[in-house]
Amino acid sequence: MKALILVGGFGTRLRPLTLSVPKPLVEFANKPMILHQIEALKAIGVTEVVLAINYQPEIMLNFLKEFERKLNIKITCSRETEPLGTAGPLALAREILIDDCGEPFFVLNSDVICDYPFEEMIRFHKSHGGEASLTVTKVDEPSKYGVVVMEETTGKVEKFVEKPKLFVGNKINAGVYLLNPSVLDRIELRPTSIEKEIFPSIAAEEKLYAMVLHGFWMDIGQPKDYITGLRFYLDSLRKKCSSKLAVGSNVIGNVLVDESAVIGDGCLIGPDVAIGPGCVIEAGVRLSRCTVMRGVRVKKHACISSGIVGWHSTVGRWARLENMTILGEDVHLCDEVYSNGGIVLPHKEIKSNILKPEIVM
Ligand code: GDD
Ligand code: MG
Repeated sequence: MKALILVGGFGTRLRPLTLSVPKPLVEFANKPMILHQIEALKAIGVTEVVLAINYQPEIMLNFLKEFERKLNIKITCSRETEPLGTAGPLALAREILIDDCGEPFFVLNSDVICDYPFEEMIRFHKSHGGEASLTVTKVDEPSKYGVVVMEETTGKVEKFVEKPKLFVGNKINAGVYLLNPSVLDRIELRPTSIEKEIFPSIAAEEKLYAMVLHGFWMDIGQPKDYITGLRFYLDSLRKKCSSKLAVGSNVIGNVLVDESAVIGDGCLIGPDVAIGPGCVIEAGVRLSRCTVMRGVRVKKHACISSGIVGWHSTVGRWARLENMTILGEDVHLCDEVYSNGGIVLPHKEIKSNILKPEIVM
């Protein structure tokens, strides 16, 4: 079986992190986002993953080469010369996706995190006999997603409305699809939206079906959602494999610490924290609801209460980061500096307080 992951888009909503690496390679819970997906696909027997990409394919492929070997899965790149949207890339990769058996294939948005229900989707897809299956989940704020109106019992989709202005329903497209090769006949090789053009037309022919997702789901393509997603993910890890989480008197709730990270005396860490490889968290530090990427040093008595600290940055002594502060790669926040929602671009030294949420260039 094959799968295509939509990895285009510039990831602007996750800047400044995406100024250093493409969005799918940004670590989530200490693992690049896209690896969560590739590992789950491999686990159900997918043999080839196509990355539909429109910029920096070299970075992505170089990085994934190592995992191609480790996971024993074929990873190929289908490169667009202009962004083709969410459907055009499928037309471009047509020859790779179609095989002799006419098997359906998976399509994934690269920024969604959940307990990928691939096996259940295969069973569901076979049972309804339609052309396409998608997964849906309930959210409180449906207007920023694709909304699906479906028949409760059969799952048949009556309506698919991308980013509706008026309330249509609260079940939204979770960005994980299983499609018959015949769907490719509906897509032209030009910038096309699968959500606005293809799904509505399949639904109109009553051949689009939706399956409700169990468990957590999050689009982690924006900082606030990334941190919420981390909470959901760690909660789920607690239930499935709690041995991966940190324990100790200095830990509160769910905390993930890479084994190469060093944590000093008298720290208090958690809840909902991920600490990456090679990090040094000095004595007396307080961390909660945050991600600290590879190679970061947080100096004595600093406090981070919500945010993301990019690769190889340092947070000075008694510094205080709150309200979704994001430091890009290689940022140095001096001692005692306070940041209230600052978004700091890579390679900067910050000597004065950031008093309100703003971008620091
Ligand atoms: N190859 C390629 N080319 N990929 C693209 C392009 C493109 O031109 N444009 C976007 N993508 C990829 C993005 O990288 C992402 O993985 C996926 O397509 C969806 O794009 P987003 O920009 O993240 O869309 P969204 O989050 O606003 O909405 C989508 O996801 C929601 C769920 O998270 C839609 O599919 C919604 O219907 C859905 O509810
Ligand atoms: Mg998204």
